[in-house]
Amino acid sequence: MAKHKIITIIGARPQFIKASAISRCIKNNYSEQIREVIVNSGQHYDDLMSKVFFNELEIPEPDYDLGVGSGSHAYQTGVMLQRIEDILIEEKPGLVIVYGDTNTTMAGALAAVKLHIPVAHIEAGLRSFNKSMPEEINRVACDHMSTFLFTPTLTGLTNLVLEGFDPDAKPDYTVDNPALFHCGDIMFDNALFFLDLAEKKSNILQALDVSGKDYILCTIHRENNTDDTARLQHILQALDSISREKQFDFIIPLHPRTAKAMPQLTKSSVMDNLAKNPYLKFISPLSYFDMLVLENHCKMIMTDSGGVQKESYFFRKPCLVLRSESEWIELVETGHAVLADANPEKIRESFLHFMEHPPVNHPSLFGDGKAAEFILHELVKFLDGSLQE
Ligand code: UD1
Ligand code: UDP
Repeated sequence: MAKHKIITIIGARPQFIKASAISRCIKNNYSEQIREVIVNSGQHYDDLMSKVFFNELEIPEPDYDLGVGSGSHAYQTGVMLQRIEDILIEEKPGLVIVYGDTNTTMAGALAAVKLHIPVAHIEAGLRSFNKSMPEEINRVACDHMSTFLFTPTLTGLTNLVLEGFDPDAKPDYTVDNPALFHCGDIMFDNALFFLDLAEKKSNILQALDVSGKDYILCTIHRENNTDDTARLQHILQALDSISREKQFDFIIPLHPRTAKAMPQLTKSSVMDNLAKNPYLKFISPLSYFDMLVLENHCKMIMTDSGGVQKESYFFRKPCLVLRSESEWIELVETGHAVLADANPEKIRESFLHFMEHPPVNHPSLFGDGKAAEFILHELVKFLDGSLQE
């Protein structure tokens, strides 16, 4: 029997993907030391937002499916908090792992820290410095509830130091003396690990008839882009006019939030234009393998997603960020990405700029693809130490 029990708390699409790197590394290298108990909050629940990732990435079946689903921020976080607390009391893990900045992350970290269970926050230290973003509140709060803060980038580490975290903290680590590690990005682990397999298995290029063609990949799902009709309209109008002018296909896998927001545009003439535009391909959410392949072969990426911004860098594709700020600011500083916001002029200008001048500078920003191994090594050291006490 494994010596240590850890609980992984996940629930949203990018967390399934991130967690797969840790589960894989436990299975391959730490199965004697760690038993992983997986809790799925059910924040994302459509098969194409959830099940598809468990199957494709061979993530173990969750031990607990909380089925919380959608709702207001307070409802969603509150119900998760209650249900996660019950599980933590029952399971008594040595440590809880949370990922990123969603309501699931917040509920998991808060439930654990109040029970004095150490929290490891993977993807710590990121900041947009915009607290109107629900994710920014979640990130800052989770970092301050964590005993282990694993930052994917140097910027993440710097942000934490500026908030008063001690980069030289030494054991014994506690929530009052947390450990900071700059370990690289586990999404980079996954991109390296899965790309070849994805290229073999996915037939998405053929299915969308873009094999060998120039196309743009676009995702939109941020609350301020979907729930603000004017912003969504501006972005879609920009895609409409650029695609007609350049005669490029735009592949747009729609997050359910965006699919639900689109009918709000029916009052304007925008929807008519979009429906008649043969270059705009609005499709269902894709599997991770299909996304990797589309990212690897596209001409450019336009997105408001955190994960997709990073993947644009892994695959060296220019990126128009459909936001006014980014947590991945080094992408902008290296000239790889532009903050085009929801501004049609800026989107157009940046698109034309990148068509003429694709970025050439790609320093290593996201580690060596072995972040999961690093993280587990540190966590096992800590858990071994706490057994000896
Ligand atoms: C959440 C995260 C966001 C992350 C994104 C990843 C928070 C505050 N936000 O945003 O940081 O970037 O996940 O994709 O946690 N819906 C469905 N089916 C589903 C899931 C959602 O129809 O399987 C619809 C529902 O109408 C729901 C809406 O999408 O109300 C938003 O879902 P929610 O999980 O609240 O936030 P996301 O926008 O997905
Ligand atoms: N992704 C996916 N299918 C899609 C859209 C995104 O598999 O249709 C992947 C994407 O490749 C990345 C992750 O989901 O690995 C990003 O998740 P998302 O954009 O939902 O959230 P964010 O990263 O912004 O929190």
